[in-house]
Amino acid sequence: FACDVIRNFSIIAHIDHGKSTLADRLLELTGTIKKKEIGKNEQVLDKLKVERERGITGACLSALLLPILTGIVKAQTASMVHSVNGRRHILNLIDTPGHVDFSWEVSRSLAACQGALLLVDASQGVQAQSISVFHIAQERGLKIIPVLNKIDLPAAQPERIAAQMQSTFGTDPADIIRISAKTGQGVDEVLQAIIDRIPPPTGSTEDPLKAFLFDSFYDRYRGVISLVAVQNGVLKKGDRIASYHTRKKYEVTEVGIMHPEETPATSLYPGQVGYIACNMKESSEAHIGDTLHRSGSPVDPMPGFKPAKAMVYAGIFPVESNDFPKLEESIKRLALTDRSVTVQRESSTALGQGCRLGFLGTLHMDVFRQRLEDEHDQNLIITAPTVPYKVVYKDREVFVSNPTEFPDALEVSSKVKEIQEPVVRASIIVPEEYFGDMMDLCFSHRGQDLEHRYLDAGTTGTSSSSRIILNCILPLSEIVTDFFDQLKSRSSGFASFDYEEAGYRPSDLVKMVFLLNSKPVDALALVIHRSKEDEIGRLWVKKLVKVIPRQQFEVPIQAAVGKKIIARETLKAYRADVTGGLYGGHVERKMKQLELQKEGKRRMKRMGTVEMPQEAFFEIMSTN
Ligand code: GTP
Repeated sequence: FACDVIRNFSIIAHIDHGKSTLADRLLELTGTIKKKEIGKNEQVLDKLKVERERGITGACLSALLLPILTGIVKAQTASMVHSVNGRRHILNLIDTPGHVDFSWEVSRSLAACQGALLLVDASQGVQAQSISVFHIAQERGLKIIPVLNKIDLPAAQPERIAAQMQSTFGTDPADIIRISAKTGQGVDEVLQAIIDRIPPPTGSTEDPLKAFLFDSFYDRYRGVISLVAVQNGVLKKGDRIASYHTRKKYEVTEVGIMHPEETPATSLYPGQVGYIACNMKESSEAHIGDTLHRSGSPVDPMPGFKPAKAMVYAGIFPVESNDFPKLEESIKRLALTDRSVTVQRESSTALGQGCRLGFLGTLHMDVFRQRLEDEHDQNLIITAPTVPYKVVYKDREVFVSNPTEFPDALEVSSKVKEIQEPVVRASIIVPEEYFGDMMDLCFSHRGQDLEHRYLDAGTTGTSSSSRIILNCILPLSEIVTDFFDQLKSRSSGFASFDYEEAGYRPSDLVKMVFLLNSKPVDALALVIHRSKEDEIGRLWVKKLVKVIPRQQFEVPIQAAVGKKIIARETLKAYRADVTGGLYGGHVERKMKQLELQKEGKRRMKRMGTVEMPQEAFFEIMSTN
């Protein structure tokens, strides 16, 4: 792969604006893939359940699902070789995950580039994610090439959207390339602009080896494969290297480029992007943003490194307590392939032995759970997601990610100085007619510092198709539950949403516990804002009374904060006689009914004196 010119770039876009389609066209135009293969990949991606359920595709899932798909679909990070007038160019397209859970990884992927294509759908216009990723790219000093996609659509409004890009990003309309990634129109111009407008990477073969790790995936046979951008020096097979941040040492067993499959090469030179295999066993060892150097010759690391941080925690328990060893084994095997999950043991009096897992966000959590169920055939109970709260005592600060460990009212009043919760800076873009609904949504989710403006420059607010961008600070705990679903339904699907971490803010939070027959059920404990204790307390006891089957005795169901009972329902006593309605002659049916009842029993979880079926947990956990 000798060449004269290297360009490293990413495509940044809101979901569905055509990133994968444009990537495929570029790969095709440079002869890196054939048309046939694209169809195959798309079909495979379309089969993924999480994708269908959450309405998201390719790039973001590739970060997580690549391990399952290895051998079928690769991430879109790919090197293309393109010759113009006898000069060979290596164009490295670096994939960025397309979901807010992975915004940290987006920023790392962009650190490996010198330029980015800012792709905007000419019918949809600028959306929340276009803006957030644009800011990351701009902060990194990348050369941005604005591209308007889908100009073939009858609903496309290229002039209007170009003006929008000018007012939002300060783009000169003359720089905007208008394309249809679907038909291929204008894509050659994009290719030329990558060569003409993006500066080459810099670096020297003479300087000590320094490589930037920006992505990784897991290969069942070779372990972790890391994607790296070489900054200085030469990286080759047999090199002994070390991670700057973990200090672990490895021997390089293979280097190569993604073309688009792994294609071995003898060495990687400064400015090149490629993969390395070394004896790295677990995905968690590959820290995104890490700097690799020659073992024994450390270099100054790439700036801005921070380890992946779990933002959402949940307990995972087997339905049958005896199944814990099997569940733990599956979790460990899956964690090998997922660099961002954290795992700790947890035990609950209600649910027995389990694991407390930390995820980057709720999509990450859903993908992990689904993989446990589908690939490892696990039958599990997952508790309500919790964010990490900060409890400030007089002499120390403690992060609490499990509601059972949250201080109770007595402790709070005597020892705790302050409780803080993580907040995010959210931006929502909606057509003007939904603005009121979006304001309500933000207020009902404890939004603060609300501000808004029209997205289209010079809009007076009279045009019905004007769109508004609304920014506010939201507690992370408010968006890990139903916020996204409500946003979509209350805007008829028109709102786009993005957020970034915005630190911690003091908050009046309390621990709510639920008592069945006067006994607290630890797995049901919640941390909530005091202003919501009545609403949530009532809602949950109503749900509990609906899903818990009647017992042989009357069961009070209560929600409590400290000593105060917030809400109460009573589950009436009932003597189960499932065969009562059947006539004596129907022995077979009777037997079947008894079998079913036995099966039902098997799936029951005993909460003190009360039996609660697995479904009750599912139902409660899925609709909080
Ligand atoms: P994520 O992978 O979720 O980030 O989506 P994406 O941005 O990669 O979008 P993708 O390439 O999957 O395209 C989304 C949809 O738009 C698909 O149905 C494409 O066929 C369609 N599409 C992409 N480009 C064009 C285009 O130029 N014209 C038209 N009409 N449709 C397009």
